[in-house]
Amino acid sequence: MASATMTPKDVKLGPTKLLINGEWQDAASGKTFETINPATEEVIARVAEADAVDIDRAVAAARRAFEEGPWSKMTASERGRLMYKLADLIDENRKELAALETLDNGKPLGESLKADLPLTTACYRYFAGWADKIHGKTIPVNGPYFCYTRHEPVGVAGQIIPWNFPLLMQAWKLGPALAAGCTVVLKVAEQTPLTALKVGELAMQAGFPPGVINICPGFGPTAGQALARHMDVDKVAFTGSTEVGHLIMKYAAESNLKRCTLELGGKSPNIVFADTDIDAAVEGAYFGLFFNQGQCCVAGSRLFVEERIHEEFVQKIAEKARTRKVGDPFARETGQGPQVSSVQFDKVMGYIEAGKKQGAKLVVGGTRVGDRGYFIAPTVFDNVKDDMTIAKEEIFGPVMSIIKFKDVDEVVRRANNTIFGLAAAVWTKDITKAHAIANRVRAGTVWVNCYDVFDAAAPFGGFKQSGLGRELGEYGLSAYTEIKTVTVKI
Ligand code: NAI
Ligand code: MG
Repeated sequence: MASATMTPKDVKLGPTKLLINGEWQDAASGKTFETINPATEEVIARVAEADAVDIDRAVAAARRAFEEGPWSKMTASERGRLMYKLADLIDENRKELAALETLDNGKPLGESLKADLPLTTACYRYFAGWADKIHGKTIPVNGPYFCYTRHEPVGVAGQIIPWNFPLLMQAWKLGPALAAGCTVVLKVAEQTPLTALKVGELAMQAGFPPGVINICPGFGPTAGQALARHMDVDKVAFTGSTEVGHLIMKYAAESNLKRCTLELGGKSPNIVFADTDIDAAVEGAYFGLFFNQGQCCVAGSRLFVEERIHEEFVQKIAEKARTRKVGDPFARETGQGPQVSSVQFDKVMGYIEAGKKQGAKLVVGGTRVGDRGYFIAPTVFDNVKDDMTIAKEEIFGPVMSIIKFKDVDEVVRRANNTIFGLAAAVWTKDITKAHAIANRVRAGTVWVNCYDVFDAAAPFGGFKQSGLGRELGEYGLSAYTEIKTVTVKI
Protein backbone atom coordinates (compact mmCIF):
# COMPACT_ATOMS: atom_id res chain seq x y z
CA MET A 1 0.00 0.00 0.00
CA ALA A 2 3.12 2.24 0.37
CA SER A 3 1.89 5.82 0.34
CA ALA A 4 -1.48 5.30 -1.32
CA THR A 5 -4.44 5.73 0.99
CA MET A 6 -6.57 2.68 1.54
CA THR A 7 -10.20 2.90 0.49
CA PRO A 8 -13.27 1.06 1.77
CA LYS A 9 -13.06 -1.17 -1.31
CA ASP A 10 -9.69 -2.52 -0.19
CA VAL A 11 -11.12 -3.83 3.08
CA LYS A 12 -11.78 -7.56 3.26
CA LEU A 13 -15.15 -8.37 4.81
CA GLY A 14 -15.33 -11.32 7.18
CA PRO A 15 -18.32 -13.42 8.24
CA THR A 16 -21.79 -11.83 8.39
CA LYS A 17 -23.82 -14.62 9.98
CA LEU A 18 -24.52 -15.69 13.55
CA LEU A 19 -21.87 -17.86 15.20
CA ILE A 20 -23.77 -20.51 17.14
CA ASN A 21 -22.28 -23.82 18.28
CA GLY A 22 -19.24 -23.34 16.08
CA GLU A 23 -21.30 -22.88 12.91
CA TRP A 24 -22.18 -19.85 10.85
CA GLN A 25 -25.96 -19.71 10.76
CA ASP A 26 -28.71 -17.51 9.36
CA ALA A 27 -31.21 -16.06 11.79
CA ALA A 28 -34.23 -18.32 12.26
CA SER A 29 -36.40 -15.53 10.85
CA GLY A 30 -34.07 -15.14 7.87
CA LYS A 31 -33.84 -11.45 8.71
CA THR A 32 -30.75 -9.34 8.10
CA PHE A 33 -29.85 -5.72 8.81
CA GLU A 34 -27.51 -3.22 7.20
CA THR A 35 -24.28 -2.03 8.70
CA ILE A 36 -23.26 1.39 7.45
CA ASN A 37 -19.93 3.07 6.73
CA PRO A 38 -20.36 6.28 8.76
CA ALA A 39 -17.85 8.16 6.62
CA THR A 40 -19.85 7.68 3.41
CA GLU A 41 -23.32 6.64 4.66
CA GLU A 42 -23.06 3.65 2.29
CA VAL A 43 -24.12 0.13 3.19
CA ILE A 44 -21.10 -2.10 3.87
CA ALA A 45 -22.93 -5.40 4.23
CA ARG A 46 -26.08 -7.08 5.44
CA VAL A 47 -25.69 -9.05 8.64
CA ALA A 48 -27.87 -11.81 10.10
CA GLU A 49 -30.22 -10.37 12.72
CA ALA A 50 -30.58 -12.47 15.86
CA ASP A 51 -33.82 -12.47 17.80
CA ALA A 52 -35.10 -14.37 20.85
CA VAL A 53 -35.19 -17.75 19.05
CA ASP A 54 -31.56 -17.45 17.97
CA ILE A 55 -30.51 -16.31 21.44
CA ASP A 56 -32.24 -19.43 22.77
CA ARG A 57 -30.24 -21.64 20.43
CA ALA A 58 -27.00 -19.86 21.32
CA VAL A 59 -27.67 -20.16 25.06
CA ALA A 60 -28.45 -23.87 24.66
CA ALA A 61 -25.15 -24.36 22.82
CA ALA A 62 -23.28 -22.43 25.50
CA ARG A 63 -24.98 -24.47 28.22
CA ARG A 64 -24.04 -27.77 26.55
CA ALA A 65 -20.44 -26.63 26.12
CA PHE A 66 -20.33 -25.57 29.75
CA GLU A 67 -21.86 -28.72 31.23
CA GLU A 68 -20.79 -31.51 28.89
CA GLY A 69 -18.44 -30.33 26.22
CA PRO A 70 -14.69 -30.59 25.99
CA TRP A 71 -14.48 -27.11 27.49
CA SER A 72 -15.45 -28.18 31.00
CA LYS A 73 -13.03 -31.12 30.83
CA MET A 74 -10.12 -29.07 29.57
CA THR A 75 -7.39 -28.14 32.02
CA ALA A 76 -7.03 -24.51 33.02
CA SER A 77 -3.68 -24.21 31.28
CA GLU A 78 -5.15 -25.60 28.04
CA ARG A 79 -7.82 -22.89 28.23
CA GLY A 80 -5.06 -20.32 28.63
CA ARG A 81 -3.18 -21.74 25.63
CA LEU A 82 -6.24 -21.35 23.40
CA MET A 83 -6.56 -17.75 24.50
CA TYR A 84 -2.90 -17.04 23.71
CA LYS A 85 -3.44 -18.62 20.32
CA LEU A 86 -6.42 -16.37 19.67
CA ALA A 87 -4.31 -13.32 20.60
CA ASP A 88 -1.59 -14.47 18.17
CA LEU A 89 -4.14 -14.89 15.38
CA ILE A 90 -5.55 -11.42 16.06
CA ASP A 91 -2.00 -10.08 15.82
CA GLU A 92 -1.41 -11.88 12.53
CA ASN A 93 -4.63 -10.36 11.16
CA ARG A 94 -4.22 -6.94 12.76
CA LYS A 95 -4.09 -4.92 9.55
CA GLU A 96 -7.22 -6.54 8.23
CA LEU A 97 -9.03 -6.17 11.56
CA ALA A 98 -7.97 -2.53 11.98
CA ALA A 99 -9.23 -1.68 8.49
CA LEU A 100 -12.52 -3.46 9.17
CA GLU A 101 -12.90 -1.61 12.48
CA THR A 102 -12.29 1.71 10.73
CA LEU A 103 -14.73 0.86 7.96
CA ASP A 104 -17.56 -0.10 10.33
CA ASN A 105 -16.97 2.42 13.14
CA GLY A 106 -15.31 5.40 11.43
CA LYS A 107 -12.31 5.74 13.73
CA PRO A 108 -9.02 6.77 12.06
CA LEU A 109 -7.07 3.77 10.77
CA GLY A 110 -3.90 4.84 12.59
CA GLU A 111 -5.78 4.71 15.89
CA SER A 112 -7.34 1.33 15.14
CA LEU A 113 -3.83 0.02 14.47
CA LYS A 114 -1.99 1.74 17.30
CA ALA A 115 -4.62 1.71 20.04
CA ASP A 116 -7.51 -0.73 19.53
CA LEU A 117 -5.51 -3.69 18.21
CA PRO A 118 -2.64 -3.76 20.74
CA LEU A 119 -5.02 -3.12 23.65
CA THR A 120 -7.19 -5.96 22.41
CA THR A 121 -4.40 -8.53 22.21
CA ALA A 122 -2.93 -7.32 25.52
CA CYS A 123 -6.29 -7.96 27.15
CA TYR A 124 -6.58 -11.52 25.80
CA ARG A 125 -3.00 -12.28 26.87
CA TYR A 126 -3.46 -10.80 30.32
CA PHE A 127 -6.50 -13.00 30.98
CA ALA A 128 -4.91 -16.01 29.27
CA GLY A 129 -2.24 -15.79 31.95
CA TRP A 130 -4.90 -15.92 34.66
CA ALA A 131 -6.53 -19.12 33.41
CA ASP A 132 -4.39 -21.44 35.56
CA LYS A 133 -3.91 -19.00 38.44
CA ILE A 134 -7.45 -18.85 39.79
CA HIS A 135 -7.00 -20.08 43.35
CA GLY A 136 -9.28 -20.69 46.29
CA LYS A 137 -8.18 -20.43 49.90
CA THR A 138 -7.90 -22.70 52.91
CA ILE A 139 -9.66 -21.23 55.89
CA PRO A 140 -8.94 -21.95 59.58
CA VAL A 141 -12.49 -22.51 60.86
CA ASN A 142 -13.31 -23.63 64.42
CA GLY A 143 -13.62 -27.35 65.14
CA PRO A 144 -12.29 -30.52 63.51
CA TYR A 145 -12.90 -29.35 59.96
CA PHE A 146 -10.91 -28.65 56.86
CA CYS A 147 -12.46 -25.70 55.05
CA TYR A 148 -11.51 -24.44 51.62
CA THR A 149 -12.95 -22.37 48.78
CA ARG A 150 -13.15 -23.07 45.07
CA HIS A 151 -13.47 -20.26 42.55
CA GLU A 152 -15.73 -21.85 39.97
CA PRO A 153 -16.88 -20.35 36.66
CA VAL A 154 -20.22 -18.58 37.01
CA GLY A 155 -21.58 -20.54 34.01
CA VAL A 156 -23.10 -19.17 30.82
CA ALA A 157 -22.30 -15.47 30.44
CA GLY A 158 -24.53 -13.20 28.35
CA GLN A 159 -22.54 -10.20 27.20
CA ILE A 160 -23.78 -7.05 25.49
CA ILE A 161 -21.34 -4.53 24.02
CA PRO A 162 -21.48 -1.09 22.39
CA TRP A 163 -20.02 0.32 19.19
CA ASN A 164 -17.34 2.77 20.37
CA PHE A 165 -14.53 0.18 20.78
CA PRO A 166 -15.98 -2.97 19.22
CA LEU A 167 -12.84 -5.14 19.25
CA LEU A 168 -11.67 -3.96 22.64
CA MET A 169 -15.06 -4.34 24.32
CA GLN A 170 -15.25 -7.88 22.96
CA ALA A 171 -11.85 -8.60 24.54
CA TRP A 172 -12.87 -7.04 27.88
CA LYS A 173 -15.86 -9.38 27.90
CA LEU A 174 -14.47 -12.62 26.43
CA GLY A 175 -11.09 -12.38 28.21
CA PRO A 176 -12.17 -12.82 31.84
CA ALA A 177 -15.12 -15.08 30.98
CA LEU A 178 -12.99 -17.60 29.06
CA ALA A 179 -10.15 -17.49 31.59
CA ALA A 180 -12.61 -18.30 34.37
CA GLY A 181 -14.02 -21.23 32.36
CA CYS A 182 -17.38 -19.71 31.43
CA THR A 183 -19.03 -20.07 28.04
CA VAL A 184 -20.35 -17.01 26.27
CA VAL A 185 -23.17 -15.59 24.19
CA LEU A 186 -22.07 -12.18 22.95
CA LYS A 187 -24.57 -9.67 21.55
CA VAL A 188 -22.58 -7.14 19.54
CA ALA A 189 -23.74 -3.62 18.75
CA GLU A 190 -25.95 -3.28 15.69
CA GLN A 191 -23.81 -0.36 14.42
CA THR A 192 -20.53 -2.32 14.39
CA PRO A 193 -20.93 -6.09 14.11
CA LEU A 194 -18.13 -6.92 11.67
CA THR A 195 -14.89 -7.17 13.66
CA ALA A 196 -16.44 -9.26 16.45
CA LEU A 197 -17.57 -11.81 13.86
CA LYS A 198 -14.09 -11.88 12.35
CA VAL A 199 -12.66 -12.59 15.81
CA GLY A 200 -15.24 -15.35 16.10
CA GLU A 201 -13.79 -16.89 12.95
CA LEU A 202 -10.27 -16.64 14.40
CA ALA A 203 -11.46 -18.24 17.65
CA MET A 204 -12.75 -21.24 15.69
CA GLN A 205 -9.39 -21.38 13.91
CA ALA A 206 -7.61 -21.27 17.27
CA GLY A 207 -9.56 -24.35 18.29
CA PHE A 208 -12.15 -23.17 20.79
CA PRO A 209 -14.71 -25.98 20.99
CA PRO A 210 -18.19 -25.39 19.51
CA GLY A 211 -20.55 -23.53 21.83
CA VAL A 212 -17.88 -21.88 23.97
CA ILE A 213 -18.05 -18.60 22.05
CA ASN A 214 -21.35 -17.71 20.39
CA ILE A 215 -21.74 -14.34 18.68
CA CYS A 216 -25.12 -12.87 17.82
CA PRO A 217 -25.46 -9.50 16.11
CA GLY A 218 -28.88 -7.95 16.57
CA PHE A 219 -30.78 -5.14 18.20
CA GLY A 220 -31.09 -4.23 21.86
CA PRO A 221 -34.83 -4.51 22.55
CA THR A 222 -34.97 -7.91 20.75
CA ALA A 223 -31.75 -9.93 20.95
CA GLY A 224 -30.26 -7.92 23.83
CA GLN A 225 -33.34 -8.10 25.97
CA ALA A 226 -33.81 -11.84 25.26
CA LEU A 227 -30.27 -12.48 26.46
CA ALA A 228 -30.55 -10.39 29.63
CA ARG A 229 -33.90 -11.97 30.50
CA HIS A 230 -32.88 -15.54 29.65
CA MET A 231 -33.57 -18.04 32.43
CA ASP A 232 -30.53 -20.15 31.56
CA VAL A 233 -27.97 -17.34 31.48
CA ASP A 234 -26.04 -17.11 34.77
CA LYS A 235 -24.53 -13.70 34.36
CA VAL A 236 -25.05 -10.64 32.22
CA ALA A 237 -22.27 -8.16 31.51
CA PHE A 238 -23.27 -4.94 29.82
CA THR A 239 -21.47 -1.89 28.48
CA GLY A 240 -23.53 0.99 27.15
CA SER A 241 -25.86 3.77 28.22
CA THR A 242 -26.96 4.32 31.81
CA GLU A 243 -30.54 4.24 30.58
CA VAL A 244 -30.21 0.69 29.24
CA GLY A 245 -28.11 -0.25 32.29
CA HIS A 246 -31.21 0.32 34.43
CA LEU A 247 -33.14 -2.02 32.12
CA ILE A 248 -30.51 -4.76 32.26
CA MET A 249 -30.64 -4.82 36.06
CA LYS A 250 -34.42 -4.97 35.91
CA TYR A 251 -34.31 -7.86 33.41
CA ALA A 252 -31.89 -9.71 35.69
CA ALA A 253 -34.15 -9.12 38.68
CA GLU A 254 -37.31 -10.13 36.83
CA SER A 255 -35.83 -13.34 35.43
CA ASN A 256 -33.43 -15.50 37.41
CA LEU A 257 -31.40 -13.03 39.50
CA LYS A 258 -28.49 -13.54 37.15
CA ARG A 259 -25.29 -11.81 38.20
CA CYS A 260 -24.92 -8.39 36.71
CA THR A 261 -21.98 -6.15 35.87
CA LEU A 262 -22.63 -2.80 34.25
CA GLU A 263 -20.22 -0.35 32.68
CA LEU A 264 -22.24 2.75 31.85
CA GLY A 265 -22.00 6.41 31.00
CA GLY A 266 -19.98 9.18 32.55
CA LYS A 267 -19.49 12.92 32.83
CA SER A 268 -15.94 12.84 34.01
CA PRO A 269 -14.37 15.92 35.62
CA ASN A 270 -10.91 16.84 34.36
CA ILE A 271 -9.46 19.33 36.85
CA VAL A 272 -6.62 21.63 35.83
CA PHE A 273 -4.87 23.65 38.55
CA ALA A 274 -2.84 26.76 37.80
CA ASP A 275 0.33 25.17 39.19
CA THR A 276 0.47 22.55 36.44
CA ASP A 277 2.57 22.27 33.30
CA ILE A 278 -0.03 24.04 31.17
CA ASP A 279 1.06 22.60 27.83
CA ALA A 280 0.92 19.05 29.16
CA ALA A 281 -2.53 19.71 30.62
CA VAL A 282 -3.74 21.20 27.33
CA GLU A 283 -2.47 18.14 25.49
CA GLY A 284 -4.07 15.78 28.02
CA ALA A 285 -7.39 17.58 28.10
CA TYR A 286 -7.53 17.71 24.31
CA PHE A 287 -6.78 14.00 23.98
CA GLY A 288 -9.05 13.13 26.92
CA LEU A 289 -12.04 14.69 25.19
CA PHE A 290 -11.54 14.42 21.44
CA PHE A 291 -10.03 10.90 21.30
CA ASN A 292 -12.26 8.47 19.38
CA GLN A 293 -14.49 11.31 18.10
CA GLY A 294 -15.41 12.02 21.72
CA GLN A 295 -17.13 8.65 21.89
CA CYS A 296 -15.55 7.49 25.15
CA CYS A 297 -17.35 6.64 28.36
CA VAL A 298 -14.47 8.30 30.26
CA ALA A 299 -14.34 11.46 28.11
CA GLY A 300 -13.18 14.42 30.21
CA SER A 301 -16.34 16.28 29.33
CA ARG A 302 -16.36 18.63 32.31
CA LEU A 303 -13.09 20.46 32.01
CA PHE A 304 -12.57 22.49 35.21
CA VAL A 305 -9.85 25.09 34.74
CA GLU A 306 -8.55 27.28 37.57
CA GLU A 307 -9.46 30.90 37.01
CA ARG A 308 -5.88 32.22 37.04
CA ILE A 309 -4.85 30.29 33.92
CA HIS A 310 -8.26 30.07 32.31
CA GLU A 311 -7.67 32.55 29.50
CA GLU A 312 -4.32 31.13 28.40
CA PHE A 313 -5.69 27.59 28.62
CA VAL A 314 -8.77 28.29 26.50
CA GLN A 315 -6.72 30.02 23.87
CA LYS A 316 -4.26 27.12 23.59
CA ILE A 317 -6.82 24.36 23.51
CA ALA A 318 -9.03 26.24 21.05
CA GLU A 319 -6.09 26.52 18.68
CA LYS A 320 -5.56 22.75 18.80
CA ALA A 321 -9.25 22.05 18.22
CA ARG A 322 -9.40 24.50 15.32
CA THR A 323 -6.57 22.74 13.49
CA ARG A 324 -7.69 19.16 14.16
CA LYS A 325 -7.96 17.29 10.85
CA VAL A 326 -11.48 15.95 10.35
CA GLY A 327 -12.19 13.65 7.43
CA ASP A 328 -11.61 10.31 5.70
CA PRO A 329 -10.67 7.86 8.46
CA PHE A 330 -8.46 5.95 6.00
CA ALA A 331 -6.35 9.05 5.25
CA ARG A 332 -3.07 9.21 7.12
CA GLU A 333 -3.39 12.83 8.26
CA THR A 334 -6.88 12.41 9.74
CA GLY A 335 -7.22 12.98 13.48
CA GLN A 336 -10.98 12.70 13.67
CA GLY A 337 -13.41 10.57 11.69
CA PRO A 338 -17.21 10.64 11.63
CA GLN A 339 -19.55 9.90 14.54
CA VAL A 340 -20.69 6.30 14.41
CA SER A 341 -24.25 6.82 13.12
CA SER A 342 -26.83 9.35 12.05
CA VAL A 343 -28.55 8.87 15.42
CA GLN A 344 -25.38 9.79 17.31
CA PHE A 345 -24.71 12.66 14.89
CA ASP A 346 -28.17 14.14 15.55
CA LYS A 347 -27.82 13.64 19.28
CA VAL A 348 -24.48 15.47 19.44
CA MET A 349 -25.72 18.31 17.22
CA GLY A 350 -28.71 18.61 19.58
CA TYR A 351 -26.35 19.10 22.52
CA ILE A 352 -24.43 21.75 20.60
CA GLU A 353 -27.71 23.62 20.03
CA ALA A 354 -28.57 23.29 23.73
CA GLY A 355 -25.16 24.72 24.66
CA LYS A 356 -25.70 27.74 22.43
CA LYS A 357 -29.25 28.31 23.62
CA GLN A 358 -28.38 28.09 27.29
CA GLY A 359 -25.68 30.75 26.92
CA ALA A 360 -22.39 28.86 26.83
CA LYS A 361 -19.74 30.66 24.76
CA LEU A 362 -19.00 28.81 21.52
CA VAL A 363 -15.26 29.26 20.92
CA VAL A 364 -14.63 26.81 18.06
CA GLY A 365 -16.68 24.47 15.86
CA GLY A 366 -20.36 23.86 16.42
CA THR A 367 -21.08 22.76 12.87
CA ARG A 368 -21.27 19.76 10.61
CA VAL A 369 -18.25 19.12 8.38
CA GLY A 370 -19.07 18.36 4.73
CA ASP A 371 -22.41 17.04 3.53
CA ARG A 372 -21.76 13.32 3.41
CA GLY A 373 -20.86 11.20 6.44
CA TYR A 374 -21.48 12.02 10.08
CA PHE A 375 -18.64 14.48 10.61
CA ILE A 376 -18.78 17.14 13.32
CA ALA A 377 -16.26 19.94 13.80
CA PRO A 378 -14.27 19.73 17.05
CA THR A 379 -16.27 22.02 19.31
CA VAL A 380 -15.22 23.99 22.39
CA PHE A 381 -17.64 25.78 24.70
CA ASP A 382 -16.31 28.16 27.35
CA ASN A 383 -18.06 29.74 30.35
CA VAL A 384 -20.11 26.59 30.85
CA LYS A 385 -22.19 26.60 34.04
CA ASP A 386 -22.83 23.49 36.15
CA ASP A 387 -26.57 23.47 35.50
CA MET A 388 -26.40 23.62 31.70
CA THR A 389 -27.44 20.50 29.82
CA ILE A 390 -23.99 20.14 28.24
CA ALA A 391 -22.44 20.07 31.75
CA LYS A 392 -24.87 17.45 33.04
CA GLU A 393 -25.56 14.90 30.32
CA GLU A 394 -23.22 12.55 28.49
CA ILE A 395 -22.68 14.01 25.01
CA PHE A 396 -20.49 11.26 23.51
CA GLY A 397 -19.14 13.51 20.80
CA PRO A 398 -16.36 16.03 20.06
CA VAL A 399 -17.78 18.73 22.33
CA MET A 400 -15.66 20.22 25.11
CA SER A 401 -17.15 22.16 28.01
CA ILE A 402 -14.78 24.44 29.94
CA ILE A 403 -15.82 25.45 33.44
CA LYS A 404 -13.96 27.92 35.69
CA PHE A 405 -13.12 27.28 39.36
CA LYS A 406 -11.18 28.93 42.19
CA ASP A 407 -10.18 26.45 44.90
CA VAL A 408 -9.90 22.81 45.95
CA ASP A 409 -12.98 22.43 48.15
CA GLU A 410 -15.16 24.15 45.62
CA VAL A 411 -13.96 22.06 42.69
CA VAL A 412 -14.32 18.77 44.60
CA ARG A 413 -17.89 19.63 45.51
CA ARG A 414 -18.77 20.59 41.94
CA ALA A 415 -16.92 17.63 40.41
CA ASN A 416 -18.95 15.26 42.60
CA ASN A 417 -22.25 16.97 41.88
CA THR A 418 -23.32 14.44 39.22
CA ILE A 419 -25.18 11.15 38.95
CA PHE A 420 -22.06 9.63 37.34
CA GLY A 421 -18.73 8.47 38.78
CA LEU A 422 -16.70 6.79 36.08
CA ALA A 423 -13.40 8.67 35.85
CA ALA A 424 -11.67 11.89 36.84
CA ALA A 425 -8.32 13.53 36.31
CA VAL A 426 -6.27 16.19 38.03
CA TRP A 427 -3.37 18.25 36.69
CA THR A 428 -1.02 19.83 39.25
CA LYS A 429 2.62 19.78 40.38
CA ASP A 430 1.51 19.81 44.02
CA ILE A 431 1.57 16.21 45.18
CA THR A 432 -0.59 16.92 48.24
CA LYS A 433 -3.30 18.50 46.14
CA ALA A 434 -3.15 15.64 43.65
CA HIS A 435 -3.71 13.04 46.36
CA ALA A 436 -6.41 15.10 48.04
CA ILE A 437 -8.36 15.18 44.77
CA ALA A 438 -7.68 11.49 44.07
CA ASN A 439 -9.13 10.59 47.48
CA ARG A 440 -12.10 12.91 47.45
CA VAL A 441 -13.45 12.53 43.92
CA ARG A 442 -16.15 9.85 43.70
CA ALA A 443 -15.03 7.97 40.60
CA GLY A 444 -13.80 4.49 39.73
CA THR A 445 -10.64 5.75 38.02
CA VAL A 446 -8.55 8.83 38.78
CA TRP A 447 -5.68 9.94 36.54
CA VAL A 448 -3.02 12.30 37.88
CA ASN A 449 -1.20 14.31 35.23
CA CYS A 450 -2.35 11.93 32.51
CA TYR A 451 -5.58 10.83 30.85
CA ASP A 452 -7.04 7.71 29.22
CA VAL A 453 -4.31 5.42 30.50
CA PHE A 454 -5.73 1.90 30.40
CA ASP A 455 -4.18 -1.43 31.18
CA ALA A 456 -5.75 -4.88 31.24
CA ALA A 457 -4.28 -5.36 34.73
CA ALA A 458 -5.91 -2.24 36.23
CA PRO A 459 -9.56 -2.53 37.34
CA PHE A 460 -12.04 -0.26 35.61
CA GLY A 461 -15.64 0.65 36.40
CA GLY A 462 -17.94 3.20 37.89
CA PHE A 463 -19.22 4.63 41.14
CA LYS A 464 -22.87 5.70 41.30
CA GLN A 465 -24.85 5.44 38.04
CA SER A 466 -21.71 4.83 36.00
CA GLY A 467 -22.03 1.17 36.76
CA LEU A 468 -21.78 -1.84 38.96
CA GLY A 469 -18.73 -4.02 39.51
CA ARG A 470 -15.34 -3.81 37.84
CA GLU A 471 -13.85 -5.05 34.60
CA LEU A 472 -10.19 -5.87 33.91
CA GLY A 473 -7.60 -6.94 36.43
CA GLU A 474 -8.19 -9.48 39.17
CA TYR A 475 -11.45 -7.77 40.19
CA GLY A 476 -12.73 -8.12 36.65
CA LEU A 477 -11.92 -11.81 36.67
CA SER A 478 -13.73 -12.35 39.97
CA ALA A 479 -16.94 -11.10 38.34
CA TYR A 480 -16.92 -14.38 36.36
CA THR A 481 -16.50 -16.75 39.29
CA GLU A 482 -18.72 -18.09 42.03
CA ILE A 483 -17.11 -18.88 45.38
CA LYS A 484 -17.88 -22.31 46.76
CA THR A 485 -17.06 -23.13 50.40
CA VAL A 486 -16.28 -26.79 51.09
CA THR A 487 -16.11 -28.05 54.69
CA VAL A 488 -14.75 -31.53 55.43
CA LYS A 489 -14.92 -33.24 58.83
CA ILE A 490 -11.51 -34.57 59.82
P1 NAI B 1 -27.22 1.56 24.15
O1 NAI B 1 -27.02 1.47 25.61
O2 NAI B 1 -28.60 1.60 23.63
O3 NAI B 1 -26.46 0.36 23.40
C1 NAI B 1 -25.43 -0.43 23.93
C2 NAI B 1 -25.71 -1.90 23.67
O4 NAI B 1 -26.90 -2.27 24.36
C3 NAI B 1 -25.96 -2.25 22.21
O5 NAI B 1 -25.45 -3.53 21.93
C4 NAI B 1 -27.49 -2.27 22.13
O6 NAI B 1 -27.98 -3.07 21.09
C5 NAI B 1 -27.83 -2.86 23.48
N1 NAI B 1 -29.18 -2.56 23.96
C6 NAI B 1 -29.94 -1.47 23.71
N2 NAI B 1 -31.15 -1.58 24.30
C7 NAI B 1 -31.16 -2.76 24.95
C8 NAI B 1 -32.14 -3.46 25.72
N3 NAI B 1 -33.34 -2.95 25.96
N4 NAI B 1 -31.81 -4.67 26.23
C9 NAI B 1 -30.57 -5.20 26.01
N5 NAI B 1 -29.64 -4.60 25.26
C10 NAI B 1 -29.91 -3.39 24.74
O7 NAI B 1 -26.43 2.84 23.64
P2 NAI B 1 -26.58 3.62 22.24
O8 NAI B 1 -28.03 3.86 21.94
O9 NAI B 1 -25.79 2.93 21.23
O10 NAI B 1 -25.93 4.99 22.62
C11 NAI B 1 -26.65 5.92 23.41
C12 NAI B 1 -25.75 6.59 24.39
O11 NAI B 1 -25.22 5.64 25.30
C13 NAI B 1 -24.52 7.24 23.79
O12 NAI B 1 -24.82 8.50 23.27
C14 NAI B 1 -23.63 7.31 24.99
O13 NAI B 1 -23.98 8.41 25.77
C15 NAI B 1 -23.95 6.04 25.75
N6 NAI B 1 -22.98 4.97 25.48
C16 NAI B 1 -22.06 4.66 26.43
C17 NAI B 1 -21.10 3.71 26.17
C18 NAI B 1 -20.06 3.37 27.17
O14 NAI B 1 -18.97 3.00 26.78
N7 NAI B 1 -20.35 3.41 28.44
C19 NAI B 1 -21.01 3.02 24.88
C20 NAI B 1 -22.08 3.37 23.97
C21 NAI B 1 -23.00 4.31 24.28
MG1 MG C 1 -21.30 0.55 10.93
